[in-house]
Amino acid sequence: MDKLVISGGHPLHGEVKVSGSKNAALPLMAACLLTDEPCTLTNLPDLVDITTMTELLTYLGVGAERDGNRITIEARKPEGEAPYDIVRKMRASYYVLGPLLSRFREAKISLPGGCAIGARPIDLHIKGMEKLGAEVAVEEGYVHAKAAKLEGSDIHLRGTKGPSVGATINVMMAAVLAEGQTKIIGAAAEPEVCIVAGFLNKMGAKIAGYGTPEITIQGVKRLSGVEFENMPDRIEAGTYAVAATITRGRIILRNAPSAHMGNIIQPLLEAGGEIEASGKHLTVSMMRRPSPLVINTAPYPGFPTDMQAQFMAWLSLGEGTSIVAENIFENRFMQAMELQRMGAEITIQGTTAVINGTDHLSGAEVMASDLRASAALVLAGLAAKGTTTVSRIYHLDRGYEGLEQKLASVGGEIKRVSVPGDE
Ligand code: UD1
Repeated sequence: MDKLVISGGHPLHGEVKVSGSKNAALPLMAACLLTDEPCTLTNLPDLVDITTMTELLTYLGVGAERDGNRITIEARKPEGEAPYDIVRKMRASYYVLGPLLSRFREAKISLPGGCAIGARPIDLHIKGMEKLGAEVAVEEGYVHAKAAKLEGSDIHLRGTKGPSVGATINVMMAAVLAEGQTKIIGAAAEPEVCIVAGFLNKMGAKIAGYGTPEITIQGVKRLSGVEFENMPDRIEAGTYAVAATITRGRIILRNAPSAHMGNIIQPLLEAGGEIEASGKHLTVSMMRRPSPLVINTAPYPGFPTDMQAQFMAWLSLGEGTSIVAENIFENRFMQAMELQRMGAEITIQGTTAVINGTDHLSGAEVMASDLRASAALVLAGLAAKGTTTVSRIYHLDRGYEGLEQKLASVGGEIKRVSVPGDE
């Protein structure tokens, strides 16, 4: 299993190109199941999760040809079910449920199960499919959805933790070929929801109101194949922005989706970061310790839960006491204990972390537990004195394209080491 060995304490300077968004690419790929015509997606990131989704589509009998950052998907007549062996690798496999049900009136997907950051149920996805007229049975570890026909409906989709990105996109994909009008009330407004709606509309769907809590979908009879460009990854861009501030460097982020990054830029500025936006580029720099912040993760346009761990690493070097409340996932502070091993002073009280800023972190051997926690440990390692070894880095390969190459190109001392036989 691979490890990352980081020699910290070097300010990062230079340019990084932001890759295509993982969380948009996955549902875009699944949405191609809605037509028998070929669809081409561009600006796809080269990530393990994209390979897993390609593997799932191929397993379902779909033609999927990847050529660098492009993929052409032709779903003439998919069949079969999404097996546990693939779904367990990636929760977002559930995105094939809506499109398969919409087009073929039947879908069978293995239940994804829990994951490191919490229970992550799919009750809202199931509720949405049922409101469209599907019968959904959960048996032998599979979700089996079937419908004689799908009919538009008013669907209240807001869960106890707020709106769900996954359920909003899945139900939207299920509703595009249903008869009549569907209203998703309590919809997620994340940019990834909007890009999928834009793609579906380009294919011929009639979706309005995306980006607001109420999405209206007029069902159509069929969709066509189109070519479509994926959006840049706002969380990857945010992670490199923190790489600049935590190392007291300056990074130009090429192709940054600044318009969708207000919820990351604002707290960076508040803590003392310097940011210039010009066209598609964002320049982030900072030459001192951050001022303390109070952060509350919230659905878009609130502060993204996917940036919480990276900010925690940064604020652990702050001048004063920061408070971070995680309101979306119940078990998303796993980076805290590892950061403590590097000298961070963090106390967890339920879903709140109290971070007493310290003037330096020290390199240590740490273990990554999930994607964004792994990114936080890499950031801490880049800023720490001495050598940090991050193990279990397969999470990073799911979500950050060419992480060590990109960091090395701006002066980070980071290398991947293979440890044979290590678990
Ligand atoms: C997506 C992102 C993930 C991000 C999250 C929140 C992808 C592949 N993943 O995950 O990176 O952290 O949005 O921005 O795009 N919930 C339910 N029932 C459901 C579905 C969700 O209770 O049926 C709860 C979840 O447990 C969580 C909250 O709703 O507490 C939000 O989750 P959701 O927005 O659905 O996250 P994902 O779409 O899984």
